[in-house]
Amino acid sequence: MVQGYDGGVRSTYRACMGQKTDNQPMQGKRILLGVTGGIAAYKSAELVRRLIEHGAQVQVVMTSAAREFVTPTTFQALSGRPVRSDLWDAAAEAAMGHIELARWAELVLVAPASADFLARLAHGLADDLLSTLCLATEAPIAVAPAMNQLMWRNAATRSNVELLTARGVRMLGPGVGDQACGEFGPGRLLEPADIVAQIAPLLSPAGPLIGRRVLVTAGPTRECIDPVRFVSNRSSGKMGFALAQSLRDVGAEVVLISGPVTLPTPLGVRRIDVESCEQMYAAVQRELPGTAIFVGTAAVADYRPLACAEQKIKKTSETLALELTRTTDILSQVSASTPRPFMVGFAAETNSVEHYARTKLLAKNLDLIAANEVGHSKAFDCDDNSLLVLWRGGRVELPVSSKRELAQALTGLIVEQYLEQNAARERGSARELASEELATREGARAS
Ligand code: PMT
Repeated sequence: MVQGYDGGVRSTYRACMGQKTDNQPMQGKRILLGVTGGIAAYKSAELVRRLIEHGAQVQVVMTSAAREFVTPTTFQALSGRPVRSDLWDAAAEAAMGHIELARWAELVLVAPASADFLARLAHGLADDLLSTLCLATEAPIAVAPAMNQLMWRNAATRSNVELLTARGVRMLGPGVGDQACGEFGPGRLLEPADIVAQIAPLLSPAGPLIGRRVLVTAGPTRECIDPVRFVSNRSSGKMGFALAQSLRDVGAEVVLISGPVTLPTPLGVRRIDVESCEQMYAAVQRELPGTAIFVGTAAVADYRPLACAEQKIKKTSETLALELTRTTDILSQVSASTPRPFMVGFAAETNSVEHYARTKLLAKNLDLIAANEVGHSKAFDCDDNSLLVLWRGGRVELPVSSKRELAQALTGLIVEQYLEQNAARERGSARELASEELATREGARAS
């Protein structure tokens, strides 16, 4: 079967995504709304109203600066719950301790988030109730910054935002426009309706892979030569991170095991950073139990130096020979494990792409392989790519497009093949069961 990148692939993905529709994604959801000090704090009252209208339970936590702008009574009236502000409020703590409150939340939303709060969140401070809750929660955190445009543009704020984004904190805005101080620029709190629209998907992941665990490897590995040098490759992690995001978007619980890259963690994805092939393999082994689908996007080094020198190697001769040894083939090892997940591999080839990819599909016992032609300015560290996807019964060419779009199309194919394999397995066991029953009945009749 030969297919092109036609409506088939796109509709597969659309069909997967279509199942995300959820009319009341916020019904009954527990949202902890942090309000920090800033003129935009008055908009949070409208935000509470909208969240409640959508059926959410809202617990407002105000910083002491926020109380200078809006009174807790407003929030209490709108949310129907006493507002929390003080880490040392014995009565409130007796009703629900702050750790309990951190666990209660299904989402922590801080709106408005001041520059000061972003800085404290980035550096893990826990000197008031809201920052302590953020540190103690396992729920996703979304922040809607609001501040003067120069404060937003300041290098300190930029680096705090970068740090938070890399840790998976979701930035909602800010918007650009007129500011309360009379200036114009980025730093306006998003409108409450926009904030509500952006947090809805965080609260109700849905899709064909809901309840399925997917392990994705991404990025390069670094194999140590000495304390300051290593053998590596040009993988940026972009393809693997895009795949982690699109698999998450169809409901999967995604664990992303990544070599050294500089990309932010996709929202809702759990990320484990590693450096070498052996570290990646150890993390994969730890995370493997319960995995339904394994996706090997990482450009894992095939060879590593036989030994890593303890001291920096000195420049004492004209030439230097490095003795290399094979690394563990992670993909093949996982494929040989029991129970075996649905196996997706990649093939990076400079020539005879289809031939080598098909050989890898069989040799590594994969269910599906995505092959790309690599070379100067091709595939590695690029924003765009093209893929040839092969499985035992089929073949699809995905022509050049962004890695995000390719990831979505590939996700559609993975979902399609994975579900088909499961259905075939179920049909097989139903047939087996039926013939076992028949044999038992015939045996009983004969005796
Ligand atoms: O990260 P980007 O800059 O976005 O680039 C994306 C990419 C080019 C790295 C990606 O699209 C890709 O091709 N990844 C696989 C790279 C690779 O190592 O290919 P390979 O043909 O050498 O390996 C085949 C498969 O075996 C891969 O799934 C690889 O993850 C796996 N492998 C290889 C060696 C090893 N020791 N363990 C493995 O699991």
